[in-house]
Amino acid sequence: MSTANTETMAGLRKPAPADAGLHELIRERWSPRAFSGAPVPRALLDSLVEAARWAPSCMNEQPWSFVLADRYADPEGYARLESALMEGNRVWAGRAPVLGIVVARLAFTRDGAPNRWALYDTGQAVAQLALQAVAAGLRVHQMGGFDADKARRLLGIPEGYEPVAALAVGYPGDARELSPELLARELAPRQRRPAGEWVHGSRWGGAWAPAAGGAVSET
Ligand SMILES: Cc1cc2nc3c(=O)[nH]c(=O)nc-3n(C[C@H](O)[C@H](O)[C@H](O)COP(=O)(O)O)c2cc1C
Repeated sequence: MSTANTETMAGLRKPAPADAGLHELIRERWSPRAFSGAPVPRALLDSLVEAARWAPSCMNEQPWSFVLADRYADPEGYARLESALMEGNRVWAGRAPVLGIVVARLAFTRDGAPNRWALYDTGQAVAQLALQAVAAGLRVHQMGGFDADKARRLLGIPEGYEPVAALAVGYPGDARELSPELLARELAPRQRRPAGEWVHGSRWGGAWAPAAGGAVSET
C-alpha cells in the first residue's frame, strides 16, 4: 500500500466518477464500511431525521418510520439493533455510533387500502437522510442484510409495518482497521450501469437521445 493511499485511508473519499454537473452531495455520498466510533451530536441526527421528514410521498402519507439507536445514549437499544444485522454486516456496522431500521407502513392511514408506493416513499426518505448526512460530514450505509423477523420481534414493530432496511450512520473511519477482505471492497472502484441501459426514450426500448433543447427523439 503506498504512502499516498495510506494517508487517504482515514476518512476515505470515493467520489462518484460522474460527469460534471453532478451535485457535490450526490458525488460524495457512498456506502463505506469503515466508520469512526466518534459520537454524532444529537442536533446532527435530528437534522438527518428532518431531511427524511421532508421527503415527498404518495398522498403525503409519509409511510416511513425509523427505529434509531445511538450507542452512547442507549447502549442496550444499540445492541438490540446490532443483533438483528447479518454477521457480514455486523462486523463493520457494529462500529458505527448509530444504527437504525427503517420501516414502512404498508396501508394508507385514511382508508386502510394497500399503499403500493410505501416502499418507494420510504426509500426516498432514506435517500434524503443520506444526502443530509453527507452535508454534515457523516455517512450512511444502508443494509438489506438484516433479519427482518428478528428486528420485528426485538424492536416491537407492529403488524402492518414492514422492516425495510437497516442503516449505519457515523463519521468516516480508518479503512486500515478493516479486514483485508473488507478493505478490498472498500477500495474497489465505484461502478454504475450506463444510463443508456435503463433510460428509454418515448417507449420501452426507445433510444434516449436528447436533442437540442433536451427533447427526447422518437424511435
Ligand atoms: C436497500 C439496500 C440494501 C443494501 N444492503 C447492503 C448490505 O446488506 N450490505 C452492504 O454492505 N451494503 C448494502 N448496501 C449498499 C450497496 O451495496 C451500495 O449502495 C451499492 O453497492 C452502491 O455503492 P455506493 O452506495 O457506495 O454508491 C445496500 C444498499 C441499499 C440501498
